[in-house]
Amino acid sequence: MEPHIEIVVAVSQNGVIGREGDMPWRLSTDLKRFKALTIGKPVVMGRKTFESIGKALPNRLNIVITRDTDWQVDGVMRVGSIGAALDLALAHLESAEPDPDDPDAPMPDEICVIGGGQIYAQAIDMAHTLYVTHVLAEIDGDTYFPEIDKDVWQEVSHENVPKGEKDSVETRFAIYERKSETQL
Ligand SMILES: NC(=O)c1ccc[n+]([C@@H]2O[C@H](COP(=O)([O-])OP(=O)(O)OC[C@H]3O[C@@H](n4cnc5c(N)ncnc54)[C@H](OP(=O)(O)O)[C@@H]3O)[C@@H](O)[C@H]2O)c1
Repeated sequence: MEPHIEIVVAVSQNGVIGREGDMPWRLSTDLKRFKALTIGKPVVMGRKTFESIGKALPNRLNIVITRDTDWQVDGVMRVGSIGAALDLALAHLESAEPDPDDPDAPMPDEICVIGGGQIYAQAIDMAHTLYVTHVLAEIDGDTYFPEIDKDVWQEVSHENVPKGEKDSVETRFAIYERKSETQL
C-alpha cells in the first residue's frame, strides 16, 4: 500500500501556528473540522504538540515523535523520527481488517500529520494533501508553518467560514493537492 500523507494545520496570514506551546486563537469550528478530518486515521505529531493537547486523541492511533527514549504515555506510540512514524502508521493501516458490512470498500490509506512547526517542516515534502485552515488575521506567535509553494501546491477547493459564536476569528478552509509534475 502507498500511504496518502495529509497535513492538517491552522495558520494565520503571517504564517503563525503557535505561541508559547499553545494555539494563539480559539476556534471551535476548526476543532470540529480537525476531528472530522482525522477520526479513525493514524495521527503523527511532535512531542511538544502532544504536550499541548495533553492526552491521546480518541479513536485514532496516536504516534508521537521524540528523541527521548524514556518518554512514555498510555495509549501513545513513541517513535524517534518522522520516517519511523510513517512506517508505523503504514503498518497499522496494512493490518486493518476489511469492513465486514462492506468488504469491497477501499481500505483506508491516509496518515495525518498534525504538527507542530518542527514536524510540519520535515513532513511537507512528503505530503500529498494539505488541509489548511487559513486564520484570517495577523497573529503574534513563535511557531510557523512553511510557505505553501504555489509551484508545488494547487488549491483544489476552499470555503469561507464565518466566525462562529465560539471562534475568535474568521477562517477560510482550503485544500491543496500536490501538482502532478511534483508527484512523489
Ligand atoms: N495551528 C496548528 O494547526 C497547530 C498544530 C499543531 C501544533 N501547533 C502548535 O505548534 C507548537 C508546537 O510546535 P513545535 O514546532 O514547537 O514542536 P513539535 O513539532 O510539536 O514537536 C517538537 C519535538 O518533536 C521532536 N522531534 C522533532 N523533530 C524530530 C526528529 N527529527 N527526530 C526525533 N524527534 C523529533 C522533539 O521532541 P523531544 O524534544 O521530546 O526530543 C521536538 O522537541 C505549539 O504552540 C502548538 O500549539 C499548532
